[in-house]
Amino acid sequence: MATSAAVTDRLFRPLRDLRISVTDRCNFRCVYCMPKETFDKDYRFLPKAELLSFEEIVKVVGAAAELGVTKIRLTGGEPLLRRDLDVLIGQIAKVPGIEDISMTTNGSLLTQARARTLRDAGLQRITVSLDAMDDETFKAVNDVDVSVQSVLDGIENASAAGFSGTKVNMVVKKGLNDHSIVPMAQHFHGTDSILRFIEFMDVGNSNAWNLAHVITSAQIAERIGQVLPIQPVSANYRGEVAKRWEYLDGGGEIGIISSVSEPFCGDCSRARLSATGSIYTCLFASSGHDLRPKLREPGDESVRDALRTLWSLRTDRYSETRTQVAVLRPKVEMSFIGG
Ligand code: GTP
Ligand code: 5AD
Ligand code: SF4
Ligand code: SF4
Repeated sequence: MATSAAVTDRLFRPLRDLRISVTDRCNFRCVYCMPKETFDKDYRFLPKAELLSFEEIVKVVGAAAELGVTKIRLTGGEPLLRRDLDVLIGQIAKVPGIEDISMTTNGSLLTQARARTLRDAGLQRITVSLDAMDDETFKAVNDVDVSVQSVLDGIENASAAGFSGTKVNMVVKKGLNDHSIVPMAQHFHGTDSILRFIEFMDVGNSNAWNLAHVITSAQIAERIGQVLPIQPVSANYRGEVAKRWEYLDGGGEIGIISSVSEPFCGDCSRARLSATGSIYTCLFASSGHDLRPKLREPGDESVRDALRTLWSLRTDRYSETRTQVAVLRPKVEMSFIGG
C-alpha cells in the first residue's frame, strides 16, 4: 500500500481517520445540531452539483491512505440521503490500506434491504443516533415527528443484515433528554448494541450551547451506576474517543464521550472532508481547506501533497483550550462536516 511516508502534525499526532460528509442534508432537525428556527431560515442546503463526486471522494481517500489513514467514517448530514452510497463504499473498500469503513446515521432510513446492500459493498460498522426512549422527548429532539420505534427498527435492520456491535449514540443535553440516560441504559443493557453517551458540545453556531446544559461524563456514569453498577475498562485502541465501561453483571459495555469535561485532543488523529471537498483538521474549525483545485489535477499526487502539508502544520486542540471567548467564535456546522 503506502508509497509515501505517514505524516504527523505539529503535536506529533498521526493522521489515521478520515470522516467524510457525503451530504449536508438531513431529514431530522435535531435541536443540538440543525435547529429548525435557525437552519430553515438562514441556511441553504448545497445544490447537488456542488457535492464531490464519488470519484473525487475516492481520490481523497487514496491520498489519505498513502499518508497513514486506515479508518473511514461516512457521515452527513444524513448519509443515507446520498444515492448509491453502496457504490461509493465499494470503491473505498478497494483502496489499499483502508481497513475499517463505518457510517454514522440517524437510522430512520435504514431498511433491511439498504443495510444488506451497504454491507455487501464493504461497510463494516454502523453507528445510529438515538437520544431518548420515549416519543415525546425524542420528537422534541428530532423536531420532525420521527418515532423511537422507527430508529429501533433501523438498529434491528442493521443486525438482521449481519452488522454486529452496532453503536448507539445519545447526545445528552440537560433539561432536554437527561431523564432518558437510565432508560436508555436499561433498554440496551444485555443487547448486542453498544450505547454511548455524548456530552453536549459547542459545535457550530446555531445550537445556543451553554455550559449549564452539559451533563458531565462523571455525572452520567454516576446516574447509571446507581441502577446498573459499572466499572471502567481499558480502551480498544489509542485515541479511542469513548471511555469504555462494563456492567458488573455481564450485561455488556457502554461508552461515554467527554469532549467538554475531559477533552481528548492529545490523541486526535481525525481529519474531516466536507461534502464540497474541504478538509477540516478540527471539528471546531472556523474554516476548511478547499481541495477541489487539487482534485482537478491528474493523479493523486497533488491531493496527497496538499493533505500532507495541511496535516504537518496542524496544531488544533480546541476542546483542550475552550474558553468563553472561543465558544462564540464562528465555527463550521457539524452537519456540514459530520460528527
Ligand atoms: P469508533 O471508530 O467506533 O471508535 O467511532 P468514534 O467513537 O470515533 O466515532 P463516533 O462518530 O461514533 O463519535 C461519537 C461522537 O463523539 C461524535 O458524534 C462526536 O459527538 C464526538 N466526537 C467524535 N470525534 C470527535 C472529535 O474529534 N472531537 C470532538 N470534540 N468530539 C468528537
Ligand atoms: N454535541 C455532541 N454531539 C453532537 N452531534 C451532533 N451535534 C452534537 C452536539 N452539539 C453528534 C451526535 C450525533 C452525530 C450525528 O453528531 O453524536 O449522533
Ligand atoms: Fe441530522 Fe444527525 Fe444533525 Fe440530527 S444530529 S440533525 S440526525 S445530522
Ligand atoms: Fe480533535 Fe479538534 Fe476534537 Fe480536539 S476538538 S479532539 S483536535 S477534532
